[in-house]
Amino acid sequence: SKVPTPANEPVKEYRPGSPEREALKEAIKELRSKEVDIPMYIGSEQVFTGNKIRLSPPHDHQHTLGYFHEGEAAHVHQAIKAALSARDSWANLSWESRAAIFLKAADLIAGPYRAKINAATMLGQSKNAYQAEIDSACELIDFLRFNVSYMTQIYQEQPNSAPGIWNRLEYRPLEGFVFALTPFNFTAIAGNLPTSAALMGNVAVWKPAYTQVYSAQVIMEVLQKAGLPDGVINLIYVDGPVAGDIIFSHPEFAGIHFTGSTKVFQQIWSTIGANIHKYKSYPRIVGETGGKDFVLVHQSANVDEVVTGLLRGAFEYQGQKCSAASRAYLPESLWPEIEAKLKEQVAGLKMGGTEDFSNFINAVIDERSFRKIAGYIDEAKQNPAVTVITGGHYDSSVGYFIEPTILKVEDPSYRTMCEEIFGPVLSIYVYNDEAFDDVINIINTTSPYALTGSIFSKDRYVVEKVTKALENAAGNFYINDKPTGAVVGQQPFGGARASGTNDKAGSLLNLFRWISARTIKETF
Ligand code: NAD
Ligand code: ALA
Repeated sequence: SKVPTPANEPVKEYRPGSPEREALKEAIKELRSKEVDIPMYIGSEQVFTGNKIRLSPPHDHQHTLGYFHEGEAAHVHQAIKAALSARDSWANLSWESRAAIFLKAADLIAGPYRAKINAATMLGQSKNAYQAEIDSACELIDFLRFNVSYMTQIYQEQPNSAPGIWNRLEYRPLEGFVFALTPFNFTAIAGNLPTSAALMGNVAVWKPAYTQVYSAQVIMEVLQKAGLPDGVINLIYVDGPVAGDIIFSHPEFAGIHFTGSTKVFQQIWSTIGANIHKYKSYPRIVGETGGKDFVLVHQSANVDEVVTGLLRGAFEYQGQKCSAASRAYLPESLWPEIEAKLKEQVAGLKMGGTEDFSNFINAVIDERSFRKIAGYIDEAKQNPAVTVITGGHYDSSVGYFIEPTILKVEDPSYRTMCEEIFGPVLSIYVYNDEAFDDVINIINTTSPYALTGSIFSKDRYVVEKVTKALENAAGNFYINDKPTGAVVGQQPFGGARASGTNDKAGSLLNLFRWISARTIKETF
């Protein structure tokens, strides 16, 4: 069978007066005007526990969007049971039927659910319209459609045969269930982790971040509407360690599809290691984790491209992208011009709620995150070896707002140059133009992460040298572009070192992790 050839979903621009803008505004108004009551989805049941947790927009924390019902240990057991009961029927369904469900889900998001899922992401996660559109609409649609095409490519991969012998590979799902543990910052990633495993015939228990439940519920609604059978994906809201304790000691635990922080992933890996004797099979461990993404600028770079790359890379979605530019290395010769342009352009960035489409900067996700980022800024302000170039102020009276902050540091090993802050803070180290090679080495050695990075240069020899020298410092490397905004089907995404297992989300490499192939040799 052939599947539709995927193409990237076009990004809508939401220009004033356009029908899509009016539909989105209407959806925002509707979601703001009613309080939702969000259950867990376990097997065929919608579970309302009565233990309600309030949802509010990070940029307007006194407003109540609704509540979700938190579960406890018993619900984790219930979700595993529901997944395992669904497993055989789902695993034995033809791949065409599985594909049809996820292709239909993509069409629903592209059409009737587009405004709702974008509005939920804008309100629940404080993403502006453009950031929501490229995430919860386009990237999620692309994951669903491209993965179907990758699945069929995998299934075509067959070994050689010989006269009298027919060899074949049978692509089976894993035996047991997959745990999808997902982060707050991308609705698309949250949706991709359970659905990619399910597409390959697996059943899943999905635990989203509590700060992403609002849009996660819309994904679940879409999947049900697309015909996903009960129990294939079970959506639970249970404290992470409580869920982890049960799942990681279950004999049918077959794998984890994780995206989140490095620290949490390392804890999970240790737990799985300690429990390894309990499982029927070796679990697949797939995790995309933190980043400290660099921008290296050579004296041959185009200054305007650098300034745009830094501003968009560092401050879109308030720097809360794993790929965000958070450390930059700039040559002394270009610094005065870059500094002037950065100051001028940061001053023009409007900050506020996502309901006003002219705001570029919105709020950071929650109070915990706000305090953590503010702590970094306060410490930097007190350090005589750090200069605040822009921003440095924050205010949580209405929402968790932090100004786009640029710090110039004297020491390239200062903590804001090495640690993941996950907020709108860009640290800059200005180097002597002659010390370019030393800076390459500094980038390679001062941070444990290797997710994304950029080189800006018009000199081909320099580009080639840096590309080679930093080959292990970034899973996604950009030449003359910001280090964010990977597109499914174009730049498979994932990092190495402390940034993840580099199984490239939205690619064949990732889908291979969710199958366990059987080799069959038949002799005639
Ligand atoms: P997080 O690690 O705090 O949470 C991720 C998930 O794990 C959530 O569902 C959370 O509830 C759960 N969790 C937290 N502690 C747990 C524990 N002890 N046991 C079990 N589950 C636990 O991450 P976050 O704040 O939601 O997301 C931001 C992080 O994700 C950043 O570090 C960012 O770089 C990373 N991220 C990476 C990528 C990538 O592709 N590499 C993409 C997006 C986000
Ligand atoms: N796909 C996201 C980006 O590249 C993580 O920014």
